[in-house]
Parts: sequence; C-alpha cells; structure tokens
Amino acid sequence: MHPVAHSLFKGRHARLRRVRAAGTLAGFVILSAAACRRDGATVGGTGGAPGFAGGSGFDGSPGGSGGAGGAGGAGGADVEMGIDAGDAGADADAGSKVDANTQPDAGSKVDAGSTTDAGNGLVDAGPPTTLRAAAARTHRLIGAALGAAHLSEAAYAATAATELDFATPENEMKWETTEPAQGSFDFSGGDAIVAFAQANDMKVKGHTLVWHSQLPDWVSNLTNATDLHDAMINHITQEVSHYRGQVIAWDVVNEAVADSGVGLRDDIFSELLGAGYIDDAFKAARAADPAVLLVYNDYGAEGSGAKSDYVYNMVKGMLSRGVPINAVGLQMHTGPADSPSATAVAANMQRLALLGLNVFVSEMDVQICTSDLNAQSARFHDIVADCAQAPLCLGVTVWGLTDKYSWLNGMTCATPQPLLFDDNYLPKPAHAGVMNAFLGL
Ligand code: XIL
Repeated sequence: MHPVAHSLFKGRHARLRRVRAAGTLAGFVILSAAACRRDGATVGGTGGAPGFAGGSGFDGSPGGSGGAGGAGGAGGADVEMGIDAGDAGADADAGSKVDANTQPDAGSKVDAGSTTDAGNGLVDAGPPTTLRAAAARTHRLIGAALGAAHLSEAAYAATAATELDFATPENEMKWETTEPAQGSFDFSGGDAIVAFAQANDMKVKGHTLVWHSQLPDWVSNLTNATDLHDAMINHITQEVSHYRGQVIAWDVVNEAVADSGVGLRDDIFSELLGAGYIDDAFKAARAADPAVLLVYNDYGAEGSGAKSDYVYNMVKGMLSRGVPINAVGLQMHTGPADSPSATAVAANMQRLALLGLNVFVSEMDVQICTSDLNAQSARFHDIVADCAQAPLCLGVTVWGLTDKYSWLNGMTCATPQPLLFDDNYLPKPAHAGVMNAFLGL
C-alpha cells in the first residue's frame, strides 16, 4: 500500500475508486461520496478521508472493500469502477452537521475503535492534544517547513515530532542547495530532514524542483535553450530519483505565474523555453517516480482573482494534454484579515477538485505586525477548516515551526509572529484555532 494511502485512508468512510485520470498514469483515487458527484454541487462535507487524485500506486484499501460504487468522478478523471469501503451513505454531506457516528467531534464521545493517530498505531483515548492527532481525526496531514540546521535544538525537534506528521524542507531541497555546481549533487540537508521525519513517523513533501528563485548561478547564467532544458530535466531526474519512495509529493514547479495573473512569470524558464517547460518538468518528475504526487505550487492564487483563474486554467490545460499533475499547492502567506476570503479559498478548492486535483495548503503563515493573536487564530482556523471540509485537500503546512525562525522576521516588521508556536515553543492561540478546525469546531 502506498504510505500516504496507508496513513490517511484507513477511515471507515473513504470510498476507493480506481480511476484513470485523463492522460495520466493509471492509478487509484479515493474520493469521498461528495467529491464524486457529477453535478459538483456539494464538494464538501466536514470530515471524512480526503481523496487522492492521479498517480499510480495508490492501492490502499481503507476499511476493506465492499460493494460497487457508482460511476462518477471529477472532470478529467475517467472512473472505471468504484469500491465502496463500507458504510455507504454515512458520510457527512456538505454543510450538514457532523455526525458523531461518522466523524468524532471534539468534546464529544471519541470513537476509540475507529480513529488512530497518524501511523503510530495507538488508539486515541480522548480528545486530541496535539495538532497531528487532531488532523488525523479528519485524515489530513499537518506539517511545517523545517530547517535541517534546527533539528539539533531539542525543543525544536521535540515540538515538530510531537505536533506534526508532515514536513517540508524550507530550503534544503532547492536547486541552489542540491546542485550547486552542474552535475554535482548534495542531498545532505534534505536527507537529514527525511531521516528526522522517518524517525518520527512524518511524511515529507519535496520542495521544489523548478523555481526562478534560489537558483544556482550556473543555471541563471545559461543562455541557450537546449542547455537549460537539459539541465532542468537532469536536475529533476536526479533529485526525484534520489528521494523516490521517501517523499509523498513534490512541488515540481513553483511560482511560475506572474503576479498580475495575465501570463507566466518573466523568468529564465519562460524566456528561454516557453510555456512548455512546465509540462516537461512534470513529465520528467513522473518518469523518475511513478507514484509520488506531483504538485504545482504558487502564492496569490489561493482564492479568487486573475492569478487564481490563470493557475486553474493552466492546470486544466495540463490535464487535457495528459500532463501528469496531481495537486495544486495554495501557499497562503497571509495576514489576519479574511483576504483571500475563506469562502473564496473553499470555492477554489472545489473547482480544482472538480478537475480531479488534490490541494495542499502548502506554506501558511499569518503575519500580525500589530500583534493580534486572536485574529491570527481565527484566520488559521478558517483556512484549515476549508481544508478539513474539502474532500480532496490532503493537508496543511505552516511555513515554519516557531516564530523565532520565521522567514518573515524583519521583512514587513521586526516580529510578525506568523506561526503557531512562539519564540519559546509555547503554543499560541492559533494552535487552538488549527486544532478546532480539524475537529470541526
Ligand atoms: C523561503 C524560505 O523560507 C527562506 O528561508 C528563504 O530565504 C527564501 O525562501 N515561497 C516558497 C518558499 O515557495 O520556498 C519560500 O521559502 C517562501 C515563499
């Protein structure tokens, strides 16, 4: 069984459907009943296991197999057959009240027989006290960007291991770090994070293969399209091969779309290679790892607007051309105001789900230069709730663990305090906001 499927899809109410995503490799998709509706009216519903779209090797069988499921599937996915994992009709419907029989509610009686913490095999004995236990209640992942240099700090490591079941290397897998000279690879930093994650039963998302920023000089200095294309394909092939089986997802292309949303960013890739480089990058990643989730990741495209529409149309086009893409990462670097609104983010998640694409909230932080911890908590809550209620949202990653190491420190203000733990690793109100969101509160 695919490790992600194993940890996420043991819920009793997941539906396993074998899907041939249009033009992508044959694979399995696990979709909740709501996500499979052709009318698309109600891609929602609190709780329930999220579905995986695309990729091969998702042969998980949560809760065993049962009767045949109905035809359905999001646009772009060709459902060949369905296997109902049991308890047909028991899923919470969109907007309906959480049913204690289908999804344990926080504060309500815990169904100790049905819910376990992610991967550790222990049955939850009461209300969850950690983020990962709360996220597991709705079969989502909760993660943070981690820095290898911090892992030797006891409080950092302990907080990450206790609270999280998902990790993204903040910088260690970027091109300038992994291939500082052409053909000379250094995976030591990424390997350290993978080792830490494996030791603590955490999944890892690779970040990132092709991005205009944090590029080594030798790439930035290329002037020939063939040289750049060859370098890109080789970089992807080497790095994805190195981490094959060790990461569940890759941010294949990062921030390729212009802020205006009218086209691609004017960077070395689009200039020398044209728009086709994105398709080529995803194909190279798939060739190097047939099972990993392939993600397009960007900021400013989380809710509604020109950039969000551009990303939507771009990934829709990729699917129609048979390009292997499985998910969109919504970075979510925000402030405490409801902008982009949680409603718009939910709608965006829904339309991407109707393409058959998973989503991640991939880099969330909420800067509060005015120190409004409660507004920050509400903001985290509302976005995490979007993910918990979107059947194809796989999890939430916060862009850092403790405020003291946030990449935003000193940017818009000295101490934007954008994360879930303060400088002393004490949980902030936002920690409770995230917990509550995963618990449907
Ligand atoms: C940031 C890191 O957090 C910093 O440490 C680094 O100096 C710059 O990059 N979008 C992304 C991330 O996809 O890789 C960025 O990470 C933040 C914005």
